[in-house]
Amino acid sequence: MSYDQARWRRDDAPVYEPLLHEKGERTVRPADRDVPLPDELVRDELTLPGVSEPELARHYTRLSQMTYGVDSGPYPLGSCTMKYNPKHTERIAALPDALVHPDRPDEHRQGVLEIYVRLQEYLARIGGMADVTLQPPAGAAGEFTGIRIAAAYHADNGDDDRDEILVTDTAHGTNFASAALAGYDVVELPSGEDGRVNLEALRAAASPRTAALMLTNPNTLGLFEREIEPIASIVHDVGGLLYYDGANLNALLGRARPGDMGFDLMHYNVHKTFATPHGGGGPGAGPVGVCERLVPYLPAPHVRRDGDVVETYAPPNTIGKVHGYEGNWLVLLKAFAYIERLGDAGLLDTSAMAVLNANYLGTTVDLEIPYEPYHHEFVASAGDRDAAELAKRMLDYGVHPPTTKWPDIVSEALMTEPTESERQATLDQLARAFNAAAADDDETVAAAPHRTSARRIDQVAAARDVRLSWQALTGE
Ligand SMILES: Cc1ncc(COP(=O)(O)O)c(C=O)c1O
Repeated sequence: MSYDQARWRRDDAPVYEPLLHEKGERTVRPADRDVPLPDELVRDELTLPGVSEPELARHYTRLSQMTYGVDSGPYPLGSCTMKYNPKHTERIAALPDALVHPDRPDEHRQGVLEIYVRLQEYLARIGGMADVTLQPPAGAAGEFTGIRIAAAYHADNGDDDRDEILVTDTAHGTNFASAALAGYDVVELPSGEDGRVNLEALRAAASPRTAALMLTNPNTLGLFEREIEPIASIVHDVGGLLYYDGANLNALLGRARPGDMGFDLMHYNVHKTFATPHGGGGPGAGPVGVCERLVPYLPAPHVRRDGDVVETYAPPNTIGKVHGYEGNWLVLLKAFAYIERLGDAGLLDTSAMAVLNANYLGTTVDLEIPYEPYHHEFVASAGDRDAAELAKRMLDYGVHPPTTKWPDIVSEALMTEPTESERQATLDQLARAFNAAAADDDETVAAAPHRTSARRIDQVAAARDVRLSWQALTGE
């Protein structure tokens, strides 16, 4: 397998691509102004890079060749899910009609509100929820919103002693963070030997102090919680709420609904389930669905149909705003377009392909996968190798590596989610990269990556001594 990423800025590059400022500068004098501006805001001279348009276009094309994204090749990040973003949804979001100012009155943006309300209805139907807010800008923000809704509900019932949220040890870090940020004590639940919720541990932890249990299903090992009904009963019997982290909903789409399993509220990660760009904590979208008794607490403004019109309103016990306006319109529009395009049959195919692809890849990878049967993702173990080193070596084979070193329950974890969008040839390419990296000698792996635009970086310095400008790089 031979692969080389463009090296326009490495010392051994065949043609070195300088930074724009290194290409030369030119000074321009802004033309006479016809808009009056205060003198202190006016520059008489402006120094810009001295490049022609072709030079500029080539510069950015070369930079784009030095990066890797979902449009470059497979990106099998388990849990974090980097799914291909279809171009048709991008085109719809780029339509001139999509540019509607959110400050326009409801009667002037009926089209936008209609799409919002339909998306709310679709998501509610998919999740088995009574209603959905589209406001939160990411999955993590959805969790925080959901926990605040739970807190408002308990407070309304005079249930002031509930100060704990239960979170499983395989849960994503944002579950712990959201619960803590909302002011709760976080109780970590150890998983059973099979990687699922340990019912005994749950029974021991659940109490009148329990505000909610946050659960991902299938969990981050890709395992479906078979005892979901007893889990729901244990939490409900002590008066707690059951929160569904929807990160893995693409494994269940059209087949099973969190609401039917007993979950009271949930978030949807539209970038994981409905192929919108990942927001890195925002600006994406992490809508929150709730059961009937939590509807009055939804964030305001909320959108509803009233006869022939669609309107915004404030639910009676609303927790208030969690984001500007009704959410990130263009991301939500893409999610809507994706669901519309697939329809019921397409959504069913999505979950089938997500699970089939992960299982096909899992059987072609020569690494141990300790927990099975998995659904849309699996967690392989790098064994006595370092998972992060192996991942760096995979870059040399032209693919993005999986998520590494998490969940902790698998030693040297390589958490892998190929997603439903990849075809067999791409899965084979991924498997070859896994297997070739695993077969390489320690010395080669320890010095990887060898064939990428950038070599091994100093990760500690990158985190602690971030240099964000070219002046910092060149010392000017
Ligand atoms: C299981 C799980 N829950 C929650 C989140 C948070 O979602 P977001 O990245 O949209 O904030 C993630 C993110 O990758 C996740 O994997």
